[in-house]
Amino acid sequence: MFRGASKVAIFGVLFAIFFHLYTKLGINFHFHKHHPGDCRQVSGVDFGSEDMEVTQDGLAFITSGVDFPSNSPRFHAFLVEKNVQGRIFLFDFKKPELGARAIKIRPSKNFDPETFQPHGISMIEDRAKGTGNYLLYVVNHVKGGKDRVEKFRFSSASNDLEHIRFFNDSAFHVLNDIAVTGEDQFYASNYLYFDSYFWSRFEHILPLPLGALLYVDAKGVTEVVPKLHGPNGVTLSKDKKFLYAAVPLQGTMQVYERQRDNGLKLIQTVPEVQTSVDNFQLTSNGDALLAGAHPIPHKALLHLEDPHFKAPSSVLHLPLSNGRVVTEEISELFYDQGDLISGSSVAHIHSNQLLIGSIIDKLVVCDLYTKPSQAGRL
Ligand SMILES: *[C@@H]1O[C@H](CO)[C@@H](O)[C@H](O)[C@H]1NC(C)=O
Repeated sequence: MFRGASKVAIFGVLFAIFFHLYTKLGINFHFHKHHPGDCRQVSGVDFGSEDMEVTQDGLAFITSGVDFPSNSPRFHAFLVEKNVQGRIFLFDFKKPELGARAIKIRPSKNFDPETFQPHGISMIEDRAKGTGNYLLYVVNHVKGGKDRVEKFRFSSASNDLEHIRFFNDSAFHVLNDIAVTGEDQFYASNYLYFDSYFWSRFEHILPLPLGALLYVDAKGVTEVVPKLHGPNGVTLSKDKKFLYAAVPLQGTMQVYERQRDNGLKLIQTVPEVQTSVDNFQLTSNGDALLAGAHPIPHKALLHLEDPHFKAPSSVLHLPLSNGRVVTEEISELFYDQGDLISGSSVAHIHSNQLLIGSIIDKLVVCDLYTKPSQAGRL
């Protein structure tokens, strides 16, 4: 009697775990390809364009060559096989025919380009130096070292990057993205707790909320939102009053209202994204977010396990109203099975072109035939 009941219980638990994984990993998902116009690969970038920041003038700074210790041995081997170097590329929406060009980084004693593995990026205008100068903050999974955030100055006059300083702290685990609120002040996402491949697999698949959002300023590092399951891209609204965080491992995005002490108050959870959003970009006028996403989770995981395996790409348009996402107006601008671009992680629109970046694959640009919906506004 007892043994029969325990068999049923064990079967029930196994079935629940199987069902959880089956649905969470999207084993049964299939979507059809659609492009918003002519799309093509941008020359110059072959191994990653994970995150980008775009100036009002349409200059895109793109991080390329991401890797971190918790990635799989086959992911590391792929980078070695392809001789991938961590770089920041520049793409000019006004001169797409030039392709993407790697920006030269001036050597500095505090920064070794050989150990540069860039990930999230955030930018502000450099007020002190004036027009054409930008301060870039970039997450660096230093090869053989600890995660830190690098600060560079880009000057359009010299067309290069000057390394200024770095930020490090024992609270930084596996960082992912940053959102700069002012000079040397930013939010950062602590994506994973474990930096080992073995333990981070459990962290990926089991609902272990070991990630967090941090705030960094002259006072130090404060954990402002604890217990998130894999917070990824973070982006501020145009007025910097709201912060949008992608939490792909729980399939949602969160909208926070910034408090006076830079704390974050959760005002909206959007389960309707129904995909694994990687990074957001604010549209130039700030009325919507664009998201690079991984629509079929198990294929994204296989792609991360071994980049030779292609994963689908999707770009979403999420209209905003009073800081919140208008969920019923979310639309998909782009879907690809992974042939043109695999594992899309970020996107931006400028000069009627859609630029799409990927974790460790191509950079793609599309001519837009139709403008994305304006959330029903006239
Ligand atoms: C930050 O970097 C400095 C200089 O390399 C180093 O001395 C310090 O131990 C680092 N701090 C942490 C928390 O890693």
